[in-house]
Amino acid sequence: MKVLAFAASNSRKSINKDLIRYASTLLPDSDVEIIDINDYEMPIYNSDLEEAHGIPEAASRFLDKIAEADALVISYAEHNGNYTVAYKNLFDWASRKNREVYQGRPVIMLSTSPGASGAKSVLSLAIESAHFFAGKVIASLSVPEFFKNFDRGEGVLTNLELVAQLEEALSPLRQV
Ligand SMILES: Cc1cc2nc3c(=O)[nH]c(=O)nc-3n(C[C@H](O)[C@H](O)[C@H](O)COP(=O)(O)O)c2cc1C
Repeated sequence: MKVLAFAASNSRKSINKDLIRYASTLLPDSDVEIIDINDYEMPIYNSDLEEAHGIPEAASRFLDKIAEADALVISYAEHNGNYTVAYKNLFDWASRKNREVYQGRPVIMLSTSPGASGAKSVLSLAIESAHFFAGKVIASLSVPEFFKNFDRGEGVLTNLELVAQLEEALSPLRQV
């Protein structure tokens, strides 16, 4: 089982990256590749730029990574109830190459934030729109109050109820 995992954040200290790294430890039998969306940085999408220069190769590289995977695990950071600009830009460019960005892959969608909402708004947005982009959302989990529930030193979720919920969310990938 080849799993592609990433945080939809370009922050070097991203808490969603912490969550992704922890989630990957719960998939010991899978071949999990964690990518950093900073490696796919492109200019802000602009149709004039696309007409003049085409779609940057980073969009194809990102789509190829998805194509190579059997399943995806994505953790969404929330900025003002929405995707981070960095992820939205990557997604927009990728969608210009192939609107079916998720390419029919099963996707487990996660999110976290320091607040009680746990970035639920962006998670809902991602879940509800996934089918437009050929994403099959098979499980999801929002982790609220990240700093209360996660030990960054150890890199582990400390809230056992959330650990159980995350294990449950990831269980389809363990069984496939
Ligand atoms: C511009 C901006 C807007 C934000 N808006 C939200 C928000 O709507 N909901 C939320 O829960 N957190 C919000 N936050 C706080 C983020 O959840 C927090 O910065 C978090 O660390 C982002 O995830 P990341 O560390 O994985 O990038 C916002 C932060 C910034 C910088």
